[in-house]
Amino acid sequence: MRGTRTFAFTAAATAFLWLAAPAGAQAPSAGAYAQRYAALCVACHGANGRSEMPGTPVLAGQHSFYAISQLFLFREGRRANEAMTAVAKTMKDDDLRGFSDFIATLPPVPVPAPATPPDAARMTRGQALAQEHKCVFCHGADFSGGQQVPRIAQQREDYLQLTLREFKSGKRVGYTMAMAEAVGRIPNEDLDTLAYYLARFPGRK
Ligand code: HEC
Ligand code: HEC
Repeated sequence: MRGTRTFAFTAAATAFLWLAAPAGAQAPSAGAYAQRYAALCVACHGANGRSEMPGTPVLAGQHSFYAISQLFLFREGRRANEAMTAVAKTMKDDDLRGFSDFIATLPPVPVPAPATPPDAARMTRGQALAQEHKCVFCHGADFSGGQQVPRIAQQREDYLQLTLREFKSGKRVGYTMAMAEAVGRIPNEDLDTLAYYLARFPGRK
């Protein structure tokens, strides 16, 4: 049993490396996936990728490599979420790539200015925590990420809170151990401050 499962995982990981390779001549057409996104994904993730739905991540400005790794994890049942598991489980390899390449065409959408200005002390504390815990090392000084590292600037606060706690508890399994190690010892209160800060991170003009 154990051997079988190890083999299955290795085969899946190999398939993933192949998937993540640059699109070849037979890459699925971008237009087809724009239409499929409009039909299947917009209700939750929004037409421009800026989700208005609680707990649902913004996809605008996300990188193709990151998106494909997550769709792969959902499809293989390694990242668990009822809605996304249902969406991803019937995807073929071409679909993983087609949707991810389409997501990467959605430009970042800045959050509208809030009615009340952010709490300055909390923003300063969030900034210090992001330095102290080296979030900036991997996600970049402007938190725009790149390749397999996601953009986290101006992500929804509720989703950031949830997902950071899930990395810490082990409920969310990453493609690598990077995040489990990064947040493992951070108290929940500080994770929430990081979520507050990142969601309000002032975008580049
Ligand atoms: C019923 C609502 C719903 C629908 C429909 C849906 N999603 Fe999602 N999606 C979610 C939720 C909720 C999450 C966050 C899951 C979690 O917390 O682990 C998510 C996560 C994702 C992620 C990971 C983003 C990240 O930042 O980690 C990607 C990529 C994604 N969805 C793509 C899609 C695509 C492509 C479609 C259409 C084919 C789609 N989703 C349809 C609700 C939905
Ligand atoms: C060693 C590199 C590294 C460090 C340090 C790091 N991250 Fe990450 N982070 C990643 C990678 C890689 C992912 C993609 C997760 C996966 O592997 O599936 C990620 C994912 C995330 C996500 C999920 C985004 C989404 O859309 O679902 C959040 C939020 C996040 N990181 C926040 C942070 C914060 C806050 C810190 C600092 C406390 C931090 N990261 C430190 C590499 C890093």
